[in-house]
Amino acid sequence: RLRGVVALDGPSGTGKSTVSKKLAAALGATYLDTGAMYRAVTLAVLRAGVDPADGAEVIRVARAAELSMGTDPLAPGVRLDGAEVEGEIRGPEVTGAVSAVSAVPEVRELLVALQRELIGRAMTEPGGMVVEGRDIGTVVVPDAGLKVYLTASAEARAARRTAQDASDGRRSDLRTTHADVQRRDALDSGRKVAPLRQADDAVELDSTDLDIDGVLEQLTKLVESRG
Ligand code: C5P
Repeated sequence: RLRGVVALDGPSGTGKSTVSKKLAAALGATYLDTGAMYRAVTLAVLRAGVDPADGAEVIRVARAAELSMGTDPLAPGVRLDGAEVEGEIRGPEVTGAVSAVSAVPEVRELLVALQRELIGRAMTEPGGMVVEGRDIGTVVVPDAGLKVYLTASAEARAARRTAQDASDGRRSDLRTTHADVQRRDALDSGRKVAPLRQADDAVELDSTDLDIDGVLEQLTKLVESRG
């Protein structure tokens, strides 16, 4: 059984969400999807008719938004102002605007505080927590027991995103997805506060040539080797 936190960071389309949930379920741990939190705030921004590039307005909306995160890996779910928004936050409007919203330092401050609260609460229960995002190992939980940085080639990531969209019933094509993946990586890696980068003490896991089960097998080995 897991004690403490497994931090899983990396760019989009690496299969991070799928493997994080499966790993947590296999370990009997709880799970936190921090990307869903940035996405939910972005949805609130769009619903309010606010320009995602208008920092001051984005902060105002973020402060007023009421987020609640499910931490069961089999039924995570995120609620915004009392209503389930799991489907809506994965759509193209939110995906297109989330990097701008997540680059606002005050938004990050707010969400990191909430993340630490949820993680702190999880640590009072047995079983540990798998936390996925971009800055978990570098900022949110710098003392995590295991940090993994999941990568894959941009081509592999675009192909996975496209397949995921198709299986979720969203329209998308490989070329647009490839461009989106690269655009979002550049924005997430280039921002001033908490940019996407591998923590010095993180283990890099390249999933380009692995399927989900292959990644899970590697992760399970890493968890076991850290005792
Ligand atoms: O993981 P996911 O693709 O759902 O994340 C959506 C966006 O949220 C990322 O592209 C990034 O801009 C932001 N994010 C972040 N920090 C995190 C998790 C997500 O900035 N810890």
